[in-house]
Formats: sequence, structure tokens, C-alpha cells
Amino acid sequence: MCKATSIPRVSAKARKYVNEVLDFGFHNCSSPGIGARLERQFAERFGCRFGILHANGTATMHSALLAADVGVGDEVIVPPFTVFSTAAVALHAGAVPVFADVDPDTWTISPDDIRRKITSRTKAIIPVSIGGLAADMDPIMELATQHGLTVIEDNAQCFLGYYKGRVVGSMGHFASFSFQASKHMTCGDGGILICDDEELATAARKAAVLGFSTLSARPGDVVVAEELRCQPTFQRHTHFGYNYRLPEIAAAVALGEFERLDELVEMRKHSAACLAEVVADCDWLVPQKTPDEYVHSYWTYIARIAREEIDWTAFRRKFGELGGDGFYGAYLPVYREPILPKLSDAARNQPQRYPQFAGIMPDYHQVRCPTWEAIPPRIIQLKTNHFDPADAQRQADILADTIRAFS
Ligand SMILES: Cc1ncc(COP(=O)(O)O)c(C=O)c1O
Repeated sequence: MCKATSIPRVSAKARKYVNEVLDFGFHNCSSPGIGARLERQFAERFGCRFGILHANGTATMHSALLAADVGVGDEVIVPPFTVFSTAAVALHAGAVPVFADVDPDTWTISPDDIRRKITSRTKAIIPVSIGGLAADMDPIMELATQHGLTVIEDNAQCFLGYYKGRVVGSMGHFASFSFQASKHMTCGDGGILICDDEELATAARKAAVLGFSTLSARPGDVVVAEELRCQPTFQRHTHFGYNYRLPEIAAAVALGEFERLDELVEMRKHSAACLAEVVADCDWLVPQKTPDEYVHSYWTYIARIAREEIDWTAFRRKFGELGGDGFYGAYLPVYREPILPKLSDAARNQPQRYPQFAGIMPDYHQVRCPTWEAIPPRIIQLKTNHFDPADAQRQADILADTIRAFS
């Protein structure tokens, strides 16, 4: 039996900081500085000097690619087991996603397959901490150093995971986190990009906020004195950038949630531990492997139904009938999402419409990641966001009953 205490869905601190923002009111060139506080504290917790808040955890990775000068003609290596955003940002930057297969047990991107996929066009790698488990970062960083590539950790699903003693988010050139509603810490929607290199962080902030000349790696609009900025001849836009600002009211919620991040992560780990106890007694449910020296942060608890005769849909139906939360299967391998083969066709048939992809976009109809392709039809992704630990135990008991029904 797993033990823990119940926690509220939204923290009292989040409410307090929201009120601070509301009491301050909205002014054009000043704020209560909550966003800046979150940027500093978040970056520090993850061992980096700079944090850049964004509207979501997709925009973060787009800014990182732009800062790393990834664009037309370039390739970005990504895994097939991820949310579409990881591949989409390559396309947003004008580059193309190239898929490297996964490790058969951890289901994170395989460094060996990354090595095979590197070409003279490769500019970046986006390893994903899928489900809350880090990719094998040491060999990935070695490959990046050898080939001069930028590594962006996609940690949308991983807060306070560890890899060989290092916190996940402290190893790549950039690390991206999402505050979308399902994530460990949320403000509804939002994200943060962290980075330890001042030049890259400056470029990312400019990419995220309209290329204002007044921005630096540090929070706030500080590098040019107001007497100069107010002049009619002042040159404001020196770089190309999007507008990915996070509203301060959302930053206020995120700061409150960040200040209880340990508790939020513990809640997920507690739910996962309840499920793991049940799965350990079943010889045909195989969980995502957590290698020694890794700490999983369990955004979800993923397992594979290893007995072929058990039908995925029947298993899900039974779990639901017994009172189980709905669970998701794996996402389609990203290159199987209809838009990617459609884009390959468009790049081939309408080169004038998609000149950036003409001649270099892979034919996604033909792309294969054989290790991963065998696994998704058998995957279950169980919820771990039980704010009341009694719910976590109940779900684990229901899983045990479901397993018994199929044994
Ligand atoms: C692995 C992964 N990458 C990227 C994202 C994108 O985050 P957001 O929804 O904040 O843009 C998500 C969130 O769904 C995700 O799970």
C-alpha cells in the first residue's frame, strides 16, 4: 500500500502571485517582475544561467532552433515517439525532421541510430524525455561535439528527472519545458527555455520577442537607456523574431507552481509507485525501463502489453468498466501523422509553394523506425496526476483487477 497526502490542484501561492499582478495593474513598460523571478529561479534550479519564458513548450524549441541558426536546407534529428511539436518546430524553422529510432527498452531516442542518421546537413538533435525519462544524453552530447550540432532537450514531460547524477535539463545546449495543462507544473499553457550560453540565450530571447534590440539574455528590457529608446530615430528591431511572450498573469501561476515543484513531482512518482507494485506481479505487462543511475519523473506510467493474444481495446474497455481512468495508447510514430507524408508530396509536386523543402524533404511515406513501429500498438500510458493519493491506490487496485481478468 502506497502512502502520501492530498494536495490542491492550484497552489495558494499561485493565487497570491496572480493577485499581485492584478493589484499592480497592467502597465506598458513595467511589471511586478514575476516573470523575471520565475526565469531566474527556474534556470538556477536546472543549473543554467538563463531562462526565457514562452507562450508554450513548442515555441521554446522553435526559438532555440532559430538561435542556433537552423533553417532552410538543414536537418534536425528527432525521435518517432514524441508529441508532434518536436518535429513541427524543425518545419517551423524551415528545416526538415529526420527520425532516429528508439532504444528497445527505454523507448527514448537511440544514440546509435542518431549516429547513422547524421549527414552534412544535420544541424541539431532534439532528444525527448518521453514520459518523464531522460534520453541517453552522454553519447548524444559526444556526437553533438564531434559534429558541431546543437542539442535541445525536449523536457515537456520531464521535471526533476535525473541522468547519472545530473538534473534533466542541464545537459543540452538548450532545454525546453512545457507548462501545458497536463504537465507536472502548469499555468494552463506556457513554457520555458533554459540555456547556459549567454550568446545563444540572447539570440533565443530576440527570436521569441520580435527581435527587439533592447533585449538580452537576462530578463527585462534593460540594455538601452530610456532616453535613447524614446528617440524617434531609435532602431528597435535588429533581429528576426516571433512574438512568443507569456502573459505575466500566467507567469504568476507558474511561479506559484514552480515553488512547489518537488511536491508535484512526488505526487506523480507516488502514483507511478502504486502502479509499479501491481505491474511487478504481472509477467506480461512490461514497463518502460528506467536504467540504473536514471531517476524517472513519471509524467505518465508507460507499459507494454507483451502477451499477443490480449487485445489492447479489450484491455482498455475492461479497465474502464472496473472504474479505471481512461488511458491513452502511444501516439502514432510522428512520421505516420498524415501531414508529414502530405508535405513530402507537396514538396515534390509543388516546389514553388514549398521551395524550402524541395529536394531535401525525406519521403515520409518511406520512413521507417522498425524498433519503435513494433511497440506502439501494445502501449498503455497510465495517468499519474492523482492529487489525492487514495485515487492513485484505487487506480492501481483497478489495474490489478484488470490484469486478473486477463490472466
Ligand atoms: C514531448 C512534448 N514535446 C513538446 C510538447 C509541446 O508543449 P506545448 O503543448 O506546451 O506546446 C509537449 C506537450 O504536449 C510534449 O509532451
